[in-house]
Amino acid sequence: MGLKLDFTNMTAAVVGEEFGVRDEELEALRPRAAAIHRTLMAGREKGFSPFYELPFQAREAETLMRAGDELAGRWETLVVLGIGGSALGTTALMRALCPLHHNLLGPEARGGRPRLFVLDNVDPAGVGETLDLLDPGSTLFLVVSKSGSTVETMAQFLIARAWMEEAVGDSFRDHFLLITDPVSGGLRQLAKQQGYASFAIPEGIGGRFSVFSAVGLLPLAAAGVDIRALLGGAAALEPRVTSGELLENPAYLNAALQFLSYGKGLRISVMMPYSDRLRDVAGWFGQIWAESLGKKYDLGGRAVHVGPTPVSALGTTDQHSQVQLYMEGPFDKVVTFLAPEDYGRNLPIPAYAAAPHLGYLEGQGLEDLIRVEQQATAVALAKNGRPNCTLSIPEVSAEWLGALLYFFEIQTVFAGALFDINPLDQPGVEEGKEFTYALMGRAGFEQKLSEFNSLAQGVNRRILS
Ligand code: PA5
Repeated sequence: MGLKLDFTNMTAAVVGEEFGVRDEELEALRPRAAAIHRTLMAGREKGFSPFYELPFQAREAETLMRAGDELAGRWETLVVLGIGGSALGTTALMRALCPLHHNLLGPEARGGRPRLFVLDNVDPAGVGETLDLLDPGSTLFLVVSKSGSTVETMAQFLIARAWMEEAVGDSFRDHFLLITDPVSGGLRQLAKQQGYASFAIPEGIGGRFSVFSAVGLLPLAAAGVDIRALLGGAAALEPRVTSGELLENPAYLNAALQFLSYGKGLRISVMMPYSDRLRDVAGWFGQIWAESLGKKYDLGGRAVHVGPTPVSALGTTDQHSQVQLYMEGPFDKVVTFLAPEDYGRNLPIPAYAAAPHLGYLEGQGLEDLIRVEQQATAVALAKNGRPNCTLSIPEVSAEWLGALLYFFEIQTVFAGALFDINPLDQPGVEEGKEFTYALMGRAGFEQKLSEFNSLAQGVNRRILS
């Protein structure tokens, strides 16, 4: 019982020489993997990648657990305002570990835990309709931003603050809790000056590697997730995913398989959970994979423009939507199936005498069906020469979700080293941010506005309406 990587269908022996990975290729990568491992561990020792240590912060976890319980005792509804790494982990883990329809249940069915909404966009319809649902008196907003300046989160905050002040008057501050950098940034300053309650995101933890900090742990603890078990699961996996031996470390091995496949032209990484509960893990993975690995420059400063493109799919739903493409379209994808061994529930499929053509289903259950469909799709893809692998966890529990997300974090930093890029930065998102500031009239961005205008107006616009 444990996290398992079945990469049979990635091998040349199964999917063919052109796109399959040969044992010799993995063998040849071993010395490089060992060298990368030493560099990663040396960096870890020096504190360059503190996300490694988050599962081991027992004291912080206890504090957050208690704080989560207090929030649960006081508030009916929590709303996370955040985006990217400040939101996706909470969304993924809430979906996996709270009842699937948590927010639709009454207080008793939720075990006295608050409803939890994650607002990670500035679509006025989405934000507005969520506010329309809320009772201000029993709502707490958790404003989550490492930088304390992300425009989407700040705009949401300003709207929610004014909305709350209008509803409750001077006590509006009590309805906000800020999760941000321990010392710097606009939110930290506000917390200090205006007396907002706050929690710190530890130094050096980037957004997409922050799920095991207050960013994810506080809202999840409040919603009833066993964050001790979550961290415990990650910590228990740590020895396996920090082993220096490529062929024994599943996170390194999966990174290597993806990297070798990329080199064969398979540039799209499809993440396809066969589980409604694991659906949003694909979204969280999409961010960590794309933002970490999609880079213009390698570590030597050469323009390389690398990075696999993540795509999310859901089994079995997308068998009736995307799998036709995966099966017969271009040879440019590696599919990773994500599946629990135990779904925690099986719904038996009853007999129906009037439908003898459905008799073959009788005596089986939905758990059998979903499992069989995943296996059938994997084998069918392999038969068509389409590399795929299956990552399984024993069950969808806090312990195994902790292990799974930690696994992907380490897979990502190792893949970053294979691609020879820095997986911990995201310089490519700055340009768009700066144009946004300029267009929204932020002081100091006047030159950027001129640049935008000349870029946007200096072209022959082609619009068909
Ligand atoms: O992974 C990242 O660093 C980003 O996706 C950030 O999480 C995202 O941009 C939000 O940033 P912040 O938490 O500073 O508001």
